[in-house]
Amino acid sequence: MPFVAPGFVPAPAPWWRSAVFYQVYPRSFADSDGDGVGDLRGLRDKLGYLELLGVDALWICPVMRSPMADGGYDVADPRDIDPLFGGLRALDDLIDEAHDREMRVTMDLVPNHTSDQHRWFRAALAAAPGSPERARYWFRDGRGPDGGVPPNNWPSIFGGPAWTRVTEADGRPGQWYLHIFAPEQPDLNWDNPEVAQDFEHTVRFWLQRGIDGFRIDVAHGMAKPAGLPDMELQQRPVDDSHLVVHDDNDPRFNNPGVHEIHRRLRKLMDEFPNAVAIGEVWVDDNTRFGDYVRPDELHLAFNFRLAETPFHPDRIRDAVDNSLHAVAAVGASATWTLSNHDVEREVTRYGGGAVGQARARAMIMLELALPGSVFIYNGAELGLPNVDDLPEAVLQDPTWVRSGYTERGRDGCRVPLPWEGEQPPFAFTSGASWLPVPASWSAVTVEKQLERLDSMLSLYRMAIELRAVRPEFGGPGLEWYGSPPGCLAFRRDGGLLCVLNATNAVITLPAGEVLLASAPISARKLPANATAWLV
Ligand code: GLC
Repeated sequence: MPFVAPGFVPAPAPWWRSAVFYQVYPRSFADSDGDGVGDLRGLRDKLGYLELLGVDALWICPVMRSPMADGGYDVADPRDIDPLFGGLRALDDLIDEAHDREMRVTMDLVPNHTSDQHRWFRAALAAAPGSPERARYWFRDGRGPDGGVPPNNWPSIFGGPAWTRVTEADGRPGQWYLHIFAPEQPDLNWDNPEVAQDFEHTVRFWLQRGIDGFRIDVAHGMAKPAGLPDMELQQRPVDDSHLVVHDDNDPRFNNPGVHEIHRRLRKLMDEFPNAVAIGEVWVDDNTRFGDYVRPDELHLAFNFRLAETPFHPDRIRDAVDNSLHAVAAVGASATWTLSNHDVEREVTRYGGGAVGQARARAMIMLELALPGSVFIYNGAELGLPNVDDLPEAVLQDPTWVRSGYTERGRDGCRVPLPWEGEQPPFAFTSGASWLPVPASWSAVTVEKQLERLDSMLSLYRMAIELRAVRPEFGGPGLEWYGSPPGCLAFRRDGGLLCVLNATNAVITLPAGEVLLASAPISARKLPANATAWLV
């Protein structure tokens, strides 16, 4: 028992420890001006929908000024909102209205790289080798007699080398610059104090405008190893996402210097007591992952284990255990997500069709039963599948071009949401949507799903509400229960029992009142591919 002083009243847990976040991919959520691309006014118009869904907070993918070479993750001005999304005023209005509805607003920040159209990078191109302008990025001479070989062998995450050669002012081929992602996303040199200062300026700028926190893009990036050594190259499976495949010894990521960057960020964040910083951290090792959420670093870090896990009970249990262990050692809390804008949608990952739907229903209930914060990717609440047959001509993910047209990339999970009506684009836009919406989605529009109690959307609404109001979801821990082969059962400290049936047959539920189930239950029988909550 820890010592507790008499009269000690524990501080309430910060809001983000148990919040349900809704991830908005703004290009695909709702368009207010008919240009075919979603925007912040479109999002504001749908806040009533998000309130109905019951989420506590939004995470908005990048909306800063950008030429959109990587859907906005190529930022040309980190302290302005792109006109495509409605400019600064649209963000201010969104924050105000969300706050009126008691919803918090967090946004993406992209500190690892800028756009090649950022004024710093343009100045670097115009300046000479060795200049202070070039020292904000990673410019290096090439190898080989004429400098024609890249400075090291690192590949870019989107395919091809991580270096691009520039033409110098005299017209001759010159130095190379590093871009771990697309060539339009040059990596910043975080050894240069100017880079950290500018980032702090950006963080303060948004917090002072009322933003409640940030999702930090590539939070395991930024720091680079001294001398930029070559890496061991591995053959990777072609159909895997590049973001997922790099391992823990990859010199492009997870270098020790990154933790000092997060400590400085945390000091600044602490001036804004309710604000949260959530890192995108693709690090597999539990201890090294946990390092990112030590008390003086990030508040939360994305754990992608569930998003990578197939519908298999042992794998799911491992993912849950590992995620909990990784944060418990440093006193942090867990995050859970089944999908996001970079990975295949869960309905498809679980097998697609009716089985994929049933499993996705089961998994959102399992996820919402876990202690920690939950991130829902827009469209998951409608049970949208990946769209894997988009015409090649419309593909926009840089992966498509950079892989030499062998990997389609992530557009299939970014197709605009169907809101209402019978014809594409289902009121997403009054114009032509930036990616085509499948005609078959007429059956799964928000309008139709709101009317049906057995829809995915209704399940999400009921589950989120129960999680918010029932005391049985309380407490930081869980305990696994004995369960038949192919099933999982755990009990929360507060008393909730969550039972997942991942077999192909019905199982009998243990004693207790059924609060909610992802599939109809009769005579205490839980169907295959389903989850039930009992108290
Ligand atoms: C992150 C984002 C991804 C983006 C990449 C480069 O992984 O989630 O969408 O392409 O960073 O910024």
